Amino acid sequence: MATDRWTSRIGFILAAAGSAIGLGTVWRLPYVAGTEGGGAFFLIFLVLLLTVGTALLLAEFVLGRHTQEGAIRAYKHVAPKGQWQWIGILGMVAAFLLLSFYSVVGGWIIAYLVRSFGGQVTNPPDGDYTALFETITANPWEVGIAHLAFMIMTILVVQQGVRKGIEKASVYMMPALFILFAVLVVRSLTLDGAWEGVVFFLQPDLSAVTGETLLTALGQAFFSLSLGVSVMVTYSSYLGKSENLPRSAWSVVLLTILIAFMAGLVIFPGVFAFDLQPDEGPELIFTILPAVFGEMAFGSLFFTLFMILMLFATLTSAFSLVEIIVKPLIRGKEEKRVKMTWIVGLLIFAMGIPSNLSFGVLADWDVFGDIFFNQVDYLVSNILLPTGAFLISVFVSWRVRKEDLQEEMLRGSNRGIGFFNTWLFTSRYIVPIAILVVFISMI
Ligand code: PHE
Repeated sequence: MATDRWTSRIGFILAAAGSAIGLGTVWRLPYVAGTEGGGAFFLIFLVLLLTVGTALLLAEFVLGRHTQEGAIRAYKHVAPKGQWQWIGILGMVAAFLLLSFYSVVGGWIIAYLVRSFGGQVTNPPDGDYTALFETITANPWEVGIAHLAFMIMTILVVQQGVRKGIEKASVYMMPALFILFAVLVVRSLTLDGAWEGVVFFLQPDLSAVTGETLLTALGQAFFSLSLGVSVMVTYSSYLGKSENLPRSAWSVVLLTILIAFMAGLVIFPGVFAFDLQPDEGPELIFTILPAVFGEMAFGSLFFTLFMILMLFATLTSAFSLVEIIVKPLIRGKEEKRVKMTWIVGLLIFAMGIPSNLSFGVLADWDVFGDIFFNQVDYLVSNILLPTGAFLISVFVSWRVRKEDLQEEMLRGSNRGIGFFNTWLFTSRYIVPIAILVVFISMI
């Protein structure tokens, strides 16, 4: 079914990293780390990324390349009689809900970007960056149109079939994002009072860790690596048979960690230097980044550039989220792609409207004790992604034939049987048990 291929190994890695690296690492990780106490959260997140996350990423890669199919059909391919395709359906639902609030943040980026052309962002009246965020999000038309614009950009790319576009663009934009981030790290670390932020971010205080912290870190690890929704299954279905899966997985994980470190080292020194609160919530980077850029020569210009790169990082993740929904719905009938992409994209937009208004006209609407936006995020990140991850790990490690797994994993790789057995053990026992334990610790 998958006739298209990534043109190169690096193209695949950057596209997979492009799906992984997005708002999850740059926007969500810093603010949840900020609300969950900083260093300890980040440490747990890292450990989970390197263990459970990497094992699962490999599992998704193996399943995708082995079956050469996307969500739903990959599961049917391995187990035609069971009901395992529900894992794919769960992933589609999770992707739908995830993108509904993710695209809202994409819209904020566009709104900031547009305003930054007038130099208004890095230099707001009275230097009040929080007020600026509130002004932008309180206006339903401004954020509404920006939100719609974000979804339309996503639709326009996905309706053409994304591979050529994504792969080509990722090769240039991802490195540019790294370089600009590195410049920012230097600026942030040399601010007055930066050190306090570094300590907050890197010094773990394990006494503050609760079941909720663990669950949030686990959800964040899956969120950051795009796991549990079959996105990585879909992407690796376009991979050539000779590619080295373990090495690709490590590359994606290490790039994500690098960006996570950089994001933390930009945000937290900024938080402390400007006397802001690390537990501000989803608006965190939108109040910190303009302040940090405001302190730089040509700050406004760099801010604009940075927002463009952030927009790109966000779009590459959004493409993957729409693609995994559209692909199973059109069942290989490419002539239906355009219509289906518009339907799915606009439904996601509609679903996102109450999330968007949570920061403005619906700010007082209490949904089980929090705003709508945060509740959808919680449902997806802390419940649907870990559930999907649990099922995928169990499915791949127990249902796919061991010989197939071994062949798929070791082909093109210089790893030996010991590596394979370690992965198999981790996927069969450690990943599912870890997820269960974290869920149970919540109750
Ligand atoms: N990994 C993406 C990010 O960090 C979000 C995402 C999650 C994308 C799940 C696809 C699937 O921004």
